[in-house]
Amino acid sequence: MYIRTLLLCTILVSIYSWTTIDANRNECPCALKTSCDPIEYNGKEIFGYVLKSNFTVWSTFNFNKLTTISLVDFIDDELMCLSHELRVRVITRETFKLKYISNQSYIDEWLTKRINVAQDHYLDGINLYVDDPIDSNDPRAEQLTQLVKMVTDKFHAKLPKSIVVFNVPYSPYNQKKMGVNGKNYQYEKIAQIVDRLFIMNYDQRKQAIDDDDKCMSGPNSNYYITMGSLLAYQEMNFPMNKMILGLPYYAHEYKCVTYDNIRCYIEREQYRGINCSSNVANIIPYNQMNEIDNLPGMFWDEISGTCIYHYVEKSYGYVYQIWLDRNDTLQLKFILAERNGLGGIGMWCLNYMNPGSWDHVPQYKLS
Ligand SMILES: *[C@@H]1O[C@H](CO)[C@@H](O)[C@H](O)[C@H]1NC(C)=O
Ligand SMILES: *[C@@H]1O[C@H](CO)[C@@H](O)[C@H](O)[C@H]1NC(C)=O
Ligand SMILES: *[C@@H]1O[C@H](CO)[C@@H](O)[C@H](O)[C@H]1NC(C)=O
Ligand SMILES: *[C@@H]1O[C@H](CO)[C@@H](O)[C@H](O)[C@H]1NC(C)=O
Repeated sequence: MYIRTLLLCTILVSIYSWTTIDANRNECPCALKTSCDPIEYNGKEIFGYVLKSNFTVWSTFNFNKLTTISLVDFIDDELMCLSHELRVRVITRETFKLKYISNQSYIDEWLTKRINVAQDHYLDGINLYVDDPIDSNDPRAEQLTQLVKMVTDKFHAKLPKSIVVFNVPYSPYNQKKMGVNGKNYQYEKIAQIVDRLFIMNYDQRKQAIDDDDKCMSGPNSNYYITMGSLLAYQEMNFPMNKMILGLPYYAHEYKCVTYDNIRCYIEREQYRGINCSSNVANIIPYNQMNEIDNLPGMFWDEISGTCIYHYVEKSYGYVYQIWLDRNDTLQLKFILAERNGLGGIGMWCLNYMNPGSWDHVPQYKLS
């Protein structure tokens, strides 16, 4: 009796431990089991953000060109399997709120969860995104650097071959030599820690500092500011080959409160201590604009290297001014990235692209 009970217990214990081990690691959900292997790729990146979507949207992506996708606020095993089968890395964009930066138990829990999710869904790394402002001299800047180090070390240890990507602003500093959008992070130190930096080279006028009294519309991703910013990163000895130039596939549409011969004065909107902001603009995804290359009256703005287009709204007669990139203006920035030895280009976001815009994207991956 005693022996039988013992045996039964042993069996139960072994079944129990077997199931807990299994629960730690989900079974590979892909039809092709090798699709759960991590993707190894060291060439130049075509890096795209993906907003929550289904196969209808994914089928428009060019997986032969893509090298990494970063999922924003969702995970989908089917998309992971599909991407891995076509040799595209899948990571998730994870936001960390600075209010938790001093809470070590929160950080430990948060990081363990991120690791578990990445393991359970066979992901290839993490894209760490932080957006809270930090004043210069604030000790939390150093704490953030430590967090980035902790995340990177843990991911590399637990998921060998995984990559850690950190988002940086379009420029290491703004016209006032301060952190863009009030984010005075230790970008130089962070750049040494992580595997890739995604340059958010859009919404350059979120803090529109140039304006004095009146607020004006302006380009989303000015070519010459891009050029100067890359130069600034270079002069600070950033590892340019880790940097990915992220570009917008959406337009900024401004309502002109007053309109005077191309000059479009816009509503005042405070953003992090600055009186004017592109936050007042509507965002129009490219695939929601009809015949983007043939909009009547669209012209190339020489000052920004982007395009402008106007229309008059019928009921109140307001002029709307739209600032946008086109295939040709985007291509100039792809070339800029190549000439400066960057590690690739990126898109915000793949959901916004029309299938045709892929024709103009360079091919870095051997197919
Ligand atoms: C995919 O999502 C779109 C909405 O974005 C929806 O209209 C469509 O029915 C969905 N398709 C499937 C197969 O779920
Ligand atoms: C720190 O985080 C833990 C875990 O999330 C939470 O229970 C605790 O209340 C937090 N402590 C403070 C001081 O916020
Ligand atoms: C911003 O606007 C406030 C009034 O709302 C004004 O006092 C301040 O001088 C303005 N700042 C700049 C830099 O123009
Ligand atoms: C880019 O060109 C394709 C056709 O090659 C077109 O369908 C698409 O609208 C263009 N996109 C932009 C952003 O100009």
